[in-house]
Amino acid sequence: MDKIIIEGGNTRLQGEVTIEGAKNAVLPLLAATILPTQGKTILRNVPILSDVFTMNNVVRGLDIKVDFNEDQNEVVVDASGDILDIAPYEYVSKMRASIVVLGPILARNGHAKVSMPGGCTIGSRPIDLHLKGLESMGAKITQFGGDITATADKLKGAHIYMDFPSVGATQNLMMAATLAEGTTVIENAAREPEIVDLATLLNKMGARVRGAGTETLTITGVDQLHGTEHDVVQDRIEAGTFMVAAAMTSGDVLIKDAVWEHNRPLILKLKEMGVEVTEEERGIRVKSDTAKLKPVTVKTLPHPGFPTDMQAQFTALMAVVNGESTMIETVFENRFQHLEEMRRMGLHSEILRDTAMIHGGNDLQGAPVMSTDLRASAALILTGMVANGTTVVGKLTHLDRGYYKFHEKLANLGASIKRVSEA
Ligand code: UD1
Repeated sequence: MDKIIIEGGNTRLQGEVTIEGAKNAVLPLLAATILPTQGKTILRNVPILSDVFTMNNVVRGLDIKVDFNEDQNEVVVDASGDILDIAPYEYVSKMRASIVVLGPILARNGHAKVSMPGGCTIGSRPIDLHLKGLESMGAKITQFGGDITATADKLKGAHIYMDFPSVGATQNLMMAATLAEGTTVIENAAREPEIVDLATLLNKMGARVRGAGTETLTITGVDQLHGTEHDVVQDRIEAGTFMVAAAMTSGDVLIKDAVWEHNRPLILKLKEMGVEVTEEERGIRVKSDTAKLKPVTVKTLPHPGFPTDMQAQFTALMAVVNGESTMIETVFENRFQHLEEMRRMGLHSEILRDTAMIHGGNDLQGAPVMSTDLRASAALILTGMVANGTTVVGKLTHLDRGYYKFHEKLANLGASIKRVSEA
């Protein structure tokens, strides 16, 4: 098992950092490559992450040819032949996001059998909205032996209202609707930049998706889709993580090619705290002096609200700001586990249901800590940079799901950090 070791206390990040393509965009994009019956789909700017390898295997498991050229960050998919319709537990249990293959397999084959995703440490993650939406498009859904089976000779366009703007459900239903008969309207749809990226790819494949990025999506079904080429959007959460890293170390960092609009909710909160955030030709510059920062209240919400995927990292920043900050987590019900680990480093915080009070500005000390989920692992590493002494972060499998060479990028900016393998 690998570990990350950080010598913290005096870190001041400076320089430039490059951001990868977005994990949360590329996973549904790979699911979409199942749809075309003609030609190859080429995805570029694909990040080298364990979740991408898992999704490639899910698609390969359908008897589809997937080539990942890691040197070029390029995936080429040829789904033009007959495909299978089963996504097995082996992969779905590794990564919940694989549930987004259900809509495309069903739309393409009229039948799909996908393993139910299991539990998740950050909270209960039901898939009722995915299933309800497919049912309203005429799919017959049954659950048995841990699998979901969906059948529909031909999906039919439907008017779907989502009780919550679920990202995964919006993606699943949008993909299913591309090949349905007639028009599908999805109301209260998710509006994340990754939804817009998926709609862009689908339209390049010949689909007719309108309204991506707004709360109403209209999808007019077509008979078939074809291969195309597409560059994956930049990872706003990786970019945001480096913005926070710069802010909490009194740093001065240019996050190259980061997209201002995608990180707007985070940027506005950083500015409210007193962090200098400016848009430059080559990206976004973040400069700060932690002694001058003020505490803030943040509430996570679906986009364009503050992203839950930045919550853990932002609490690490709150920890170095003098005074009491408040973090309210409304998207997932159990996403404060990193605060328990940070308590081992001397952080004072109280959690009451969905609200965490962070008493920032106290001295933090390095300690051995365990990643509890993907974004928590980044938050613990960031905290290690400002804690006095040595921090050892274990369970890096979480980190590798979503960050490419995180420790190297931080080291290049001046952090004293290394990754070691342990037998
Ligand atoms: C995606 C992101 C994840 C991010 C999350 C919220 C990917 C691969 N993952 O996850 O990083 O944290 O969006 O921005 O893109 N819900 C239901 N029923 C459903 C579906 C969801 O009740 O059928 C609830 C969930 O329990 C959760 C909330 O909706 O409380 C948000 O989930 P959702 O937007 O679906 O997140 P994911 O797509 O799983």
